[in-house]
Amino acid sequence: MKWPALALLIALLAGCDNATPTTPGGTAPDGAAPGKASQREQVLGEFLETHWKRPVRAQGPSPEGWSPLEASLDPKDCGACHPQQLADWETSLHADAFSPGFAGQLIEGNLAKPDALRGCQRCHTPLEEQQPVGPGPEHTLEPPEYDEKLRQAGLVCAGCHVRAHRHFGPPRRADLPPPPEAVPHAGFEVRPEFQQSRFCAPCHQFFDRSGINVQNTYFEWKESPHAARGETCQSCHMPDRRHLWRGIHDREMVAEAVDVAWADGEPLALVLTARAVGHAFPSYVTPRVVMSIWQQDATGKPIEGTRIEHTIGRKVDFRKGEDIFDTRVPPGGTARLSVTQPPEPEAVAWVGQVTVDPDFHYRGVFERYLPTLEDAKARALIARALERSQRSSYVLAELRRPR
Ligand code: HEC
Ligand code: HEC
Ligand code: HEC
Ligand code: HEC
Ligand code: HEC
Repeated sequence: MKWPALALLIALLAGCDNATPTTPGGTAPDGAAPGKASQREQVLGEFLETHWKRPVRAQGPSPEGWSPLEASLDPKDCGACHPQQLADWETSLHADAFSPGFAGQLIEGNLAKPDALRGCQRCHTPLEEQQPVGPGPEHTLEPPEYDEKLRQAGLVCAGCHVRAHRHFGPPRRADLPPPPEAVPHAGFEVRPEFQQSRFCAPCHQFFDRSGINVQNTYFEWKESPHAARGETCQSCHMPDRRHLWRGIHDREMVAEAVDVAWADGEPLALVLTARAVGHAFPSYVTPRVVMSIWQQDATGKPIEGTRIEHTIGRKVDFRKGEDIFDTRVPPGGTARLSVTQPPEPEAVAWVGQVTVDPDFHYRGVFERYLPTLEDAKARALIARALERSQRSSYVLAELRRPR
């Protein structure tokens, strides 16, 4: 199969449209285009450009005198000394990046091929020690350096913090007592980039795409009032440096940032305000948010034929490379659903509701994909992913307005 066809197929399957290197047969998806500084390089700058070359090169032999604990890449071992970060990270989606829906797609078919596999793992499990196939055909790590258990751990601590056994982190907190005389893992190198939004961009922004960009989170943020006020990805997703990364899957996170209210005046309307969302609400093409209003009778039942709704989200025609619709709410912006019908005689109230379906797109992907699978393990994983995607929706708000 030719590359463009394969890339398209993968895009349809995965819903992550830059899932594969776009250069035909390319083995270094993060390499720079020869000649000019790419948009990616301009945003990332020198340190991050190198830091986020993926797959992240194997760490190599552990430095002399290090204990096995200091040299280990296992998050549990980092947690022996950094228990708070471990406890937080374990509950995050970064720790779930090798999810059934991800892993299940890499077992048979085109995504199981080395180039595609590498393309997918670049963001979900970026360390070379997590890659069952090496960066080139001539190079593959063997166990124990290649570590299947580490692969299953997803986006691990070392994926963000450790390069060639050197540890990198944000400036040390000012309020800490002085560090011990001999800090384990030879201390760490302070990098201001850990507190900047561009740190997150290599995985949450698709760079240099001609045509549509289905994941534009960094630039949405950059143009937002939040960026102008100095609020970064970390301020909202890692408050007090916590490693929780709550997002659209977390009702509380969304409820704290998005207001839903009736607007007074004629006609009656339900208004959603993305008050504290630092990018489009929602940013990615995969979730759907639905605002709806219906009339209610005296027994509390919805009156048939009165339901109206407005969908917030983005639908892309991957084949044509065009938006079919994009009704996402810009940072600070609003979406409005106005009542157009007069009340029915038996109506006693209007009910307004907002539901969030974080995995809308993937559910469809898994439904179509499952019956095509032959491998028993792949089937079991995708069945689990489908089941999970059926349980992730929630009601964000429900408001009643007496007639
Ligand atoms: C044996 C204990 C130990 C282990 C194991 C360990 N660390 Fe550390 N780490 C420390 C200590 C102590 C410091 C310095 C804390 C200070 O400055 O007070 C530190 C500092 C850091 C910092 C810098 C924090 C800052 O203020 O910026 C990062 C990041 C870090 N470690 C990540 C890791 C990761 C990732 C792992 C696993 C791959 C790991 N550590 C394993 C003890 C450990
Ligand atoms: C540029 C980075 C990047 C690449 C490459 C990438 N993903 Fe993702 N993927 C993400 C991010 C970020 C999310 C979470 C998006 C969100 O919630 O906004 C995600 C979410 C997912 C999800 C839904 C969550 C889950 O784990 O069930 C699946 C499935 C998935 N990706 C599969 C794939 C597959 C298969 C490939 C390769 C064809 C791939 N991804 C390549 C960044 C990437
Ligand atoms: C997705 C990337 C990412 C992953 C994965 C990650 N971290 Fe971090 N970590 C960061 C960033 C970014 C900061 C700086 C946050 C800030 O200062 O606002 C940070 C900060 C830290 C600090 C300094 C905390 C403080 O309070 O001063 C330590 C220690 C640390 N991380 C350890 C870990 C450990 C241990 C793990 C795994 C259990 C881990 N990190 C996983 C990105 C990551
Ligand atoms: C190495 C790639 C990588 C980096 C760097 C990274 N992420 Fe992620 N992030 C992912 C992937 C992959 C997922 C989806 C995991 C899954 O569900 O399969 C994700 C998921 C998330 C989610 C959850 C989204 C949801 O659906 O609720 C948030 C929030 C998030 N990341 C924020 C951040 C922030 C903030 C940073 C920077 C401090 C960051 N990420 C850095 C790869 C990355
Ligand atoms: C002002 C606070 C704020 C800032 C700044 C912010 N976010 Fe968010 N983010 C949110 C809220 C609230 C949600 C949940 C609602 C939503 O999904 O849009 C969210 C959701 C997400 C999601 C879930 C997927 C989706 O489709 O929305 C990802 C991934 C994410 N943010 C990444 C980032 C990255 C990367 C940055 C920096 C470039 C960033 N965020 C900056 C508040 C913020």
